[in-house]
Formats: sequence, structure tokens, C-alpha cells
Amino acid sequence: MGITVVAVVMVMCAMVVHADVKPQRDFDLQRFAGKWYRVGLAYDSPKFVPFRDKVKASMGFVTILPGGNVNLTMWDATPLGCQIKVYQYEKTNVAGQFTYYSTRHNMVKDITVVSTNYTDYALVLKHKVFNREYTQVALYGRSHSVRNNIIQRFRSFALSKGFSRDSILTPPPAENCPPSASGR
Ligand SMILES: *[C@@H]1O[C@H](CO)[C@@H](O)[C@H](O)[C@H]1NC(C)=O
Ligand SMILES: *[C@@H]1O[C@H](CO)[C@@H](O)[C@H](O)[C@H]1NC(C)=O
Repeated sequence: MGITVVAVVMVMCAMVVHADVKPQRDFDLQRFAGKWYRVGLAYDSPKFVPFRDKVKASMGFVTILPGGNVNLTMWDATPLGCQIKVYQYEKTNVAGQFTYYSTRHNMVKDITVVSTNYTDYALVLKHKVFNREYTQVALYGRSHSVRNNIIQRFRSFALSKGFSRDSILTPPPAENCPPSASGR
């Protein structure tokens, strides 16, 4: 039963394409795959405020599944240690736009790769379709250091979407997460 509900909601989400935010033109999923670091994060949820100064730049790995869906594996440094999490992104009929079912918030969200040049950075917007409260902007870099003009673009984009200055973070690298022994 859960699957059917999710499928129906996803179809609805695919139809509500965000007029104000367009994905990267000619988005190329093959070139987007592989390793990224989340070097910037804008997140306005009041519950998140106490954690702001503890955030580290998580590593993510984008795997393309047969059929064009995506698994995003994230390694998050948490007080409980390095935690691995897999997000399953479903493609939509718009290249660069995905949906996923958030078990934490119990709802379908959508993800737009707003801009990327594949070799250096990617600016990604996460929407909660029916309520903007938990919307996030993330800046991914292929390495921990992303050029200053890219950071500035990320900041202005987040500000233009209504994020407060305090909610825009550029966290330091995570230490030993993933553990260096894992070979990644
Ligand atoms: C994608 O993620 C799901 C959920 O963790 C997992 O079951 C599946 O094996 C993953 N697929 C690939 C190709 O990694
Ligand atoms: C991506 O951006 C970086 C830094 O701005 C630049 O050096 C590089 O040439 C760009 N790559 C492409 C494919 O445009």
C-alpha cells in the first residue's frame, strides 16, 4: 500500500515543476556521477540551529542506477561517529530534477541541480513541495576547496531564496569520515 501512495505522490510532484528554479541546462547525469563534498549548506529549520557549528562537510557519492535513478551515499560525521546513509533519488521527466521519499519527514521532496560544471561544483536545491519550511540549498565541490566566486554565488542564491545569513554555512572538512581505511 505504501508503495502505491508514494508512486502517486511522485507523479504529482513530477507535474509540479518549479517555474522559478530551472535545472542546469543540458544536465548530464553521467558527468555528475561520482564523489562530491558538501562544502556549503543553507538550512533554516529552527531545530537545526543548535547543530550549526557542529556541521562538517560530508562526503557524498553519486551512483547512477540502470534506468537513470540515482543513489546518493553520504558519510556524515555525527556525535555517534561516521554514519553512512543512502538516499534514493528518482528521476523525473526533467533532466537535473529528482524526487525522493524522506523517511525522516515522511514526505516526498524534490531535488534540483540548479547549476554545475561537473568538474568543480554543483549547486543543489532541495524542496519540500507543499511546504517550504525545510528547504535546503547545498553546494557540492569535487574537492574540499571550491573557488571563492562559487561560494559567493551559493551565498547569493541562498539569500535570494529567503535564507537568513546565519543559516548559510560553509563547514570544515570531516575528519576520518569516511574512515580512511575504507579506501575512498
Ligand atoms: C541503492 O540503494 C538502495 C537502498 O540503500 C540499495 O538497496 C541498492 O542496492 C542501491 N543500489 C546500488 C546500485 O548501489
Ligand atoms: C569549472 O569551474 C572551474 C572553476 O571555476 C574552472 O576552472 C573549470 O574550467 C570549469 N570546468 C568546466 C568544464 O567548465
